[in-house]
Amino acid sequence: MRIVFLGAPGSGKGTQAQKLMADYGLQQISTGDLLRGAVAAGSELGQRAKSAMDAGELVTDDIVLGIIAERLAQDDCKTGFILDGYPRNLQQAKDLEPVLADIGQSLDAAVLLNVDLDILMKRLTGRRTCSKTGKLLNIHFSSQEEMDAVTAAGGELIQRADDNEDTIAKRLNVYREQTEPLIEFYRSAGLLKTVEGEGDIEEIYSRLKSTLGLS
Ligand code: AP5
Ligand code: MG
Repeated sequence: MRIVFLGAPGSGKGTQAQKLMADYGLQQISTGDLLRGAVAAGSELGQRAKSAMDAGELVTDDIVLGIIAERLAQDDCKTGFILDGYPRNLQQAKDLEPVLADIGQSLDAAVLLNVDLDILMKRLTGRRTCSKTGKLLNIHFSSQEEMDAVTAAGGELIQRADDNEDTIAKRLNVYREQTEPLIEFYRSAGLLKTVEGEGDIEEIYSRLKSTLGLS
């Protein structure tokens, strides 16, 4: 299965993608994670991306296209993937088409995780990521047991540099202006599926699986 996740910052793209990856062996391809990795490694690409990320703006289309084309060409993507955070403007959606054609694949669905923008600030300011496994947690919503399990295993709970209120507000604006038009783009292509993204993480996952026809 090959899908795109659409959804605002904090809508749960990463959370739900991690679950599909664990249960169905789909590769989660998060341009945000790949870019943060490049920034942490101090590569030239990371240096070019960093200022836009810190400002909550999109990194240029050519940088992310290069990253995504390279990642999709790898062997482990042949069994299916979730594009988490790509495309996020109309140009990127158009750029993706020849990349998929080159590897002889096409999309099965574009899934919109639909969440009221009002609840996103709390999800994003409370987000923490395990330094060892990348597991996503939240100081407001995760259980104490889940948080303790990370530290007991020697992981640290890291807060993302762009998860502060000013940058989150900017990211939400960018989403509304540049990414939301993709909902219509994929609806016209007959690929759009909408999943209500509010409520318990497991309930949302059940809705997602049934929308995708997974048991
Ligand atoms: P990216 O990393 O993609 O960030 P984003 O789109 O802002 O999305 P998030 O990762 O913040 O949200 P998410 O939907 O994954 O939510 P999560 O599951 O973590 O991009 C970062 C930056 O990189 C961009 O600003 C840009 O600069 C650059 N970039 C990336 N891709 C690019 C591209 N294609 N082009 C150009 N630039 C690009 O959940 C959030 C929190 O909520 C977690 O703590 C989680 O535990 C919690 N949570 C999840 N579900 C629930 C629930 N149901 N109830 C309670 N809490 C929940
Ligand atoms: Mg994410």
